[in-house]
Amino acid sequence: MTDVNTVLDQAGLTNEDVRAYVAEWFAVTGAERIEVVSAADDARLIAEALEAGELLPAGEGSYYSRSYFKDTARAEERTIVATADERDKGTYNNWRPSSEMKPKLVELMTGASKGKTMYVIPYLMAPAGGPLDKFAAGVELTDNINVVLQMIRMARVGVEYINHLGNDFVRAVHVTGDLPNLGQGTPDDKRYFVTVADERTILHFGSSYGGNALLGKIAHGLRQGSYDGWKNGFLVEQFMLLGISDKETGKKYNICGGFPSASGKTNLAMTLSPDALGDRYHVEFYGDDIAWIWVDENGVLRGFNPENGVFGVAKDTNEHTNPTAIESIKPGLGVIYTNVAYNEKTQEVWWEGRGEKPTDLDGWLDWKGERIADRSPETASENWAHPNSRFTTTLANVPNVAPDYDDAAGVEIHGIIFGGRTRDREPLIRAINDLAEGVYDGLTLGAEATFAADGLEGVLRYDPMSMRPFMSYPEADYAQHWLDVVGKATNNPIFAHVNWFQRGEDGRFLWPGYRENLRPLVWLMQYRNGEVQGVETPVGVIPARDELLLDGLDEQTLADLDTVLTIDTKRWQQEMGYREDHLKQFDGLPDAIWEAHNRVAKALDEA
Ligand code: PEP
Ligand code: NA
Repeated sequence: MTDVNTVLDQAGLTNEDVRAYVAEWFAVTGAERIEVVSAADDARLIAEALEAGELLPAGEGSYYSRSYFKDTARAEERTIVATADERDKGTYNNWRPSSEMKPKLVELMTGASKGKTMYVIPYLMAPAGGPLDKFAAGVELTDNINVVLQMIRMARVGVEYINHLGNDFVRAVHVTGDLPNLGQGTPDDKRYFVTVADERTILHFGSSYGGNALLGKIAHGLRQGSYDGWKNGFLVEQFMLLGISDKETGKKYNICGGFPSASGKTNLAMTLSPDALGDRYHVEFYGDDIAWIWVDENGVLRGFNPENGVFGVAKDTNEHTNPTAIESIKPGLGVIYTNVAYNEKTQEVWWEGRGEKPTDLDGWLDWKGERIADRSPETASENWAHPNSRFTTTLANVPNVAPDYDDAAGVEIHGIIFGGRTRDREPLIRAINDLAEGVYDGLTLGAEATFAADGLEGVLRYDPMSMRPFMSYPEADYAQHWLDVVGKATNNPIFAHVNWFQRGEDGRFLWPGYRENLRPLVWLMQYRNGEVQGVETPVGVIPARDELLLDGLDEQTLADLDTVLTIDTKRWQQEMGYREDHLKQFDGLPDAIWEAHNRVAKALDEA
């Protein structure tokens, strides 16, 4: 039996509150050994994982892992926010009393790591040394070495991040469980992913995948973080963050924003070419998934990406769609692939949308580990990679990462954008000057139903601020908190709504998207600065055609431009009815939000 104190002493883990927490859960989970890890242990842990077959080599300095086939994505229906106060129950947070959930999780975890090593991962979800450190520190306990390796890439990891913080750390316990016997997706599902937000404790049982298991990323970085932000005056959002420098004027602008899944957030953050639009602009990457945002003592809205890496969706990533991502997963960078297709002879990886499908099937295994050459005619057309397969790489590997990405002071935020996926109605961009109308726009963000099961065609699946799966407290309080925090900013941050996905009658996309999306963002910053006037509409200010940089756009795009810069009043009036129903779900929404809604509705009626 391991002596916990000896191990913690040797690792230099001196924080007494952390030590007590580790000892408590070591006893509960019944793990056989205990080990404290830091980023410096990565090479040794990689070697151990290869030795144990938990990882496979994927070419020079890259690695491959497969998760259990019923464990390939976040399980929203099993994810719960628990507190002691029923007033914390919201529309989307799956609230349950902590008095019910904690004993359940302790019971599930008791003895469940028997025979395994319990890894202690002290981490920080922030660039170190900043104002939010005490909310960003945590200690994940896990019985899974792959989770350790992923966390080392996705967070700052080491005892130095937590020793000085006393009790200011998130307790994050992860127990994998017996994956083949958890009844995933059945009425007897045994998985529970619980954030006990008012105790800053995360208890996740029954998965080794992504957001269910890397507790720094989503459970802490979004759910716990947003709850702490509510109580302590900052915002935590599922937002990308990028910087745009104008080489001519020397000015730099930073824009963050939320996009419901499959609306192109990672692509927007990563694919804008570093040097673009006649080389006038330089685009820098800060983050593709999470932003923590606050107002500093000078009234400046600031933000940082709390993560240290990218857990990117592999599907459709290639040299054309996302060259920056391809650069960031080159050989030798320590990348871990999960659930893509793998060639056991050549150690190559492949996924749908990577390029030509290999024609020589020798050695190729699909994401489940099954030989593709042995497929029957019935299964021949199945995907080789899982649609949610991922690559994990660190920010430092991204070629256009901002030089100050690791600066704890964060960067000034000049713009906050929301982007849905809408085939009509939403113009390319509309700027919103008014705070309440900006927050209102975020609350009514949504993506179009793509499958019949998602809802009615043309009706959005609303996803407020793209936080629906991560909401930790009631939506009305969330709206008020947004008004309060951004209301304190005196640096004139501007809101905007963008849509890259308008289609013509023949179904073609009217806007080319990808790297051309820089053009409306440049316009937004010029509009904020008063350099262009735009055109007022009932739903915001849109660019006058000649205000957009048009050089280099193809003729079809130029021909379609007037359509993507039009407000379809009839469709908007219909949308206002849907919005009203959506907002009515949230009891006690601030008056300012309803007033914003009514102002927009009235302006549309008068248009
Ligand atoms: C996940 O699928 O585990 C995950 C983290 O997803 P996303 O990045 O979409 O939140
Ligand atoms: Na995400």
